[in-house]
Order: sequence, then C-alpha cells, then structure tokens
Amino acid sequence: MARHLITSALPYINGVKHLGNLVGSMLPADVYARYLRAAGHEVLAICATDEHGTPAELGAHAEGMDVAEYCTRHHETQRQLGERFGLSWDHFGRTSAPQNHYLTAHFARKLKEQGFTEVRTTTQVYSIADGRFLPDRYVVGTCPNCDYERARGDQCENCGKQLEPTQLIRPRSALSGSEAIEQRDSAHVFLLQSVLAERIREWVDTKDHWPQLTRSIAYKWLDEGLEDRGITRDLAWGIPVDPDDFPEAAGKVWYVWFDAPIGYLAATREWADANHSGDAAEAAFDRWWRLERGADDVTYTQFMGKDNVPFHTLSFPATIIGSGEDWKLVDRLKSFNWLTYYGGKFSTSEGRGVFMSDALELAPADCWRWYLMANAPESDDASFTWDLFGDAVNKDLVGTFGNFVNRTATQVTRHFGDEVPSGGEDESVEDELWARVGARLRDYTDALDELQFRRAAAALRALWAEGNIYLEEREPWRTVKVDRERTATTLRTALQVACIHSVASSPFVPEAAARLAAAFPQAGPDKFALDASLVGAVRASVSSGDSFVAPGLLFDKIPAEDLAVWSDRFSGSESTGE
Ligand code: MF3
Ligand code: ZN
Repeated sequence: MARHLITSALPYINGVKHLGNLVGSMLPADVYARYLRAAGHEVLAICATDEHGTPAELGAHAEGMDVAEYCTRHHETQRQLGERFGLSWDHFGRTSAPQNHYLTAHFARKLKEQGFTEVRTTTQVYSIADGRFLPDRYVVGTCPNCDYERARGDQCENCGKQLEPTQLIRPRSALSGSEAIEQRDSAHVFLLQSVLAERIREWVDTKDHWPQLTRSIAYKWLDEGLEDRGITRDLAWGIPVDPDDFPEAAGKVWYVWFDAPIGYLAATREWADANHSGDAAEAAFDRWWRLERGADDVTYTQFMGKDNVPFHTLSFPATIIGSGEDWKLVDRLKSFNWLTYYGGKFSTSEGRGVFMSDALELAPADCWRWYLMANAPESDDASFTWDLFGDAVNKDLVGTFGNFVNRTATQVTRHFGDEVPSGGEDESVEDELWARVGARLRDYTDALDELQFRRAAAALRALWAEGNIYLEEREPWRTVKVDRERTATTLRTALQVACIHSVASSPFVPEAAARLAAAFPQAGPDKFALDASLVGAVRASVSSGDSFVAPGLLFDKIPAEDLAVWSDRFSGSESTGE
C-alpha cells in the first residue's frame, strides 16, 4: 500500500465549467484517485475553487454582487455539480479560505527571508473616478491596429494584437467608463525567478519520466530565460499583503497565480482542520506535505490543462524551492490538450458547447465520464461531437457492458433463480477465458499506472467485450435445454466476470459499477482489490449458492432523435468554426 496525493487544477470561480474543463483536470484526477483507492492505496484527492484575480472580480461585477458573496455562491454550485459528476474529492476547498491566507503569507515571508523577493516600482493605470488602479484588461479603448472600439488593455479581441494599456486610443475605465485615468507609480513585490532558474532546471532535470508535452513546455521557458515576476496586484479582492513583511506594498493583494497553487496545500489544511483539531490537524496536514513529517513516502500527481503547465513546472516550484523549507514537490504531472466543440471553442457567452449543468440534465454522469475519458484530449486536441457521445453510450455502455450483464442476469434468474448457479463444478474448461480476462486486466491497470486514460478505456472496453465473446461461445440459452450442469458452469463463470467488471469499472463509471457490485451481496463492493489478485479473488469468492440480485439495466440507450435535438440546442449562435 502506497500513499498518493492527487490534485487537479483549481477551477476558476466564475461560473459553471464546461466539459473541456472537466476532462482536462478534475475528471481524470478522479478516475485515477478511484483507481488507486480500489487498488488499496491510501489516497488524498484535493481540489478547490480558484477565487481571486480579475475573473472573480469581473464575474461578480457582471452579476452585480459583492465578490465574497459571489464566490460563496459559485463555490457551492461547483461543489454540487462536482459531486453529481461523482468527483470523489476528499476535500473541495476555496483559495479564499483562512488557511490559504495564512500559507500564502507564510510563503511570501519565507521567500523574502531567503532573498528571493524584491520590491520594484512600476507604472500602472489609475482611474480617478473609480478610485483605484486598473488591471490591464479593465482598461478599454480603440485599438491602434484595427480601430476596434472596445479593445482591452492587454489584447484586442478583434484583431488579436497584444497591447499595453498605454497604446489604446481614448483609453477609459471598463468599470465606470470614465476617461479620467492617468499613470501612477506603484510598488510591487517581485519574485526573483531569474535567480532561482538554475535550481528549478536541476529539479526539472530529475523529472525524465514526465510526458513529452510537459517537459518540452518546461524547457522552452527555461531556455528562454525565466523572468522575475510581479506577484502583487493593485486589486481590492485577494489575499492582502502583510504590511509587516512588505511595508512598501501595503494595501495590495497577492497575484492570483501566486496564491492559487498554494491553495493545494491550503485545501489540504482545510481538510485536516475539518477532521482533526489542534496538533492532530497539523500532523494530518504535514503527513502529506512536509517531507520530514511523513510526506517523504507520498507520490504526488497533478492534473491540468496544457496552459497550466508553466505554472506547475516552474512558478509554483519556484515558490516551494525558494522557501528553503521541506515541502513536497510534484512527482508526476499529467497535462491535457483541449477539448473543442466541433473544432471551435466552448463559449459561455455564445451559448456554444455543453456545460456541466446542462450535461446532467441530458444523461447520467457515468455516460459523460465514460465518453469524456475514452475520448480524452490526451495526445492531441479532441473534438466533442454528439455522434461520438452517442457511440460511447450506445455501443460501449449499452451494447457491450450493459448487454453482457443483462444477458447474464436474465439467463441466471430465468433458469437458476436468485442465486449463483450450482453444479458443473469442474471449471478447468474455462482456463482460456481466465487467461484472456487476466491479460485485459493487466493492460488496464498498466495503462492507469501510466496515466494513459484512452488506453485504459480501450482495455476496459475489451474486458467488457470478453464477457459477450464468452456467452457467444458457450450459448447458455441453448445448452440449458440439453446440459444443465454445463450451463451452470457457464453462468457462474459469467457472473464472476460481471463481478470483475464491477470492480474494474468503478474508476470510470462508479455509479453503474456500484449497482452491479450490489448484485453480489455476499462479496460486497470493498472486498476485492483492483490489482493482479482480482481474478483469483473473485473466482474464490463468488461461488455456487451465493445470492445474486439482478441489477436491472445498467444503462439506457440514447435515441438518435435526442442526439439531433441536443446538437441543435447546444450549437450556439454559430454551429461550427471558431
Ligand atoms: N484556475 C486556473 C485555471 O483554470 C488553474 C489554477 S491551478 C492552481 O486555469 F494551481 F493555480 F491552483
Ligand atoms: Zn485590434
């Protein structure tokens, strides 16, 4: 039994996430966490909402709400949606929690003590009417490149040109519309990544097992030269800079990308505080994060979209390494490409694509989990299509897995009642089947160990298919008329295969897997480990005369008409394209 810490990139607080967000971090993290738990390991799965920065401020502004209230409301929505998708976090925290305030201040102080921070004066846009500094994207004006009148200070949405707010013609505040803006000097804390660069490179050099996508992103940045990074902002919402540590930057807040990854630790601390008190809470937290207090035997795996890779391979490690303390660093990092909607972007504002809340109205979470993971944007971007979704549900879940279980259950209950058939106890004739099932299972667990989710899904699909192949070979519906002993062996064996399916399928389709596991009340869902012992354990345990409770249909077919209606409904203002 090993110890595994698993985190998925913290979703921004603003609004319901789309399926691309889900498949790029939270869902694979959950599949992996469930797999490791099923294999008998000790797992801590952590996520949280990323609540600071401009996305939160702008989101609250758009809904006319106080930011703190906005965050509380949206955190709750995201938590509920996550749970309905079966995301089995040990804790779903918030980067605005006191634990994150504390730890963020702690890291900033340590970085200062180690000599890795510096206060520098920068020039920022100040809005007199709003009484505040404006982040680049809060400044709007006419694009000097294309004359678009609502270009943002960081980029023109119309022509795509990267801008500085000072380049805009007729610049004004995006908040109030006021043109009374000016440039003012403002002191900010910088993290001296240039000084830490060599130590970060040495650490990245030890990660030769990281996937190519991850390594190439990290080295690209290192080779271009890591730049010092401003880690404070002139915003009202965020984690306030401690004026005792950084008097020049009093009144400012930490940059969202500084405090958010510290949120992994802080959400763990929230978990520890929720389950223990006093020193026990500290010890529970340290056991996962402090090398000298138990975390040296933890394997830490992070999940994220590819845009997040530089922050997790470079800037967050800079914070950790620069602290000079014994914090746990990431071991394995799994990043994903983009899921597109028919080749274009998912877009909230244009109503294009499927969001987590929509998805659950249409089909059970297991259907989405299976479709998304079996088609995950792993080696390349992948496009969502309703046809692929329909195939994943109708062919794999209904036609292969569900069909095998249903055919088996029907034959058993029709001919042998509510128990595992007895008779025909010489099972040596099934050796070939068990060899195939064992091989499929090995493919499956190997792929999961390597974080190869599409490959794992293919192996699981093949494991399901073995059930149908076996029934076709043995034809219990025919043999029952002539050889009851033989048929008992066949159906008992088929039930054992179904029981193996229930254990193996639990990471991908946990709800259906649990219903199937309940068909074997004597075996119980937690009795088996999802590892090389599974086949032997199930064969020894699911035996003649045990009760069998037919599970009913595991999945419902999705009619083609429904897919057509949904395809119309979610195509947004444009049906394809960007
Ligand atoms: N909120 C960011 C995003 O969705 C991810 C933050 S990951 C963290 O891209 F590590 F910073 F928390
Ligand atoms: Zn432009």
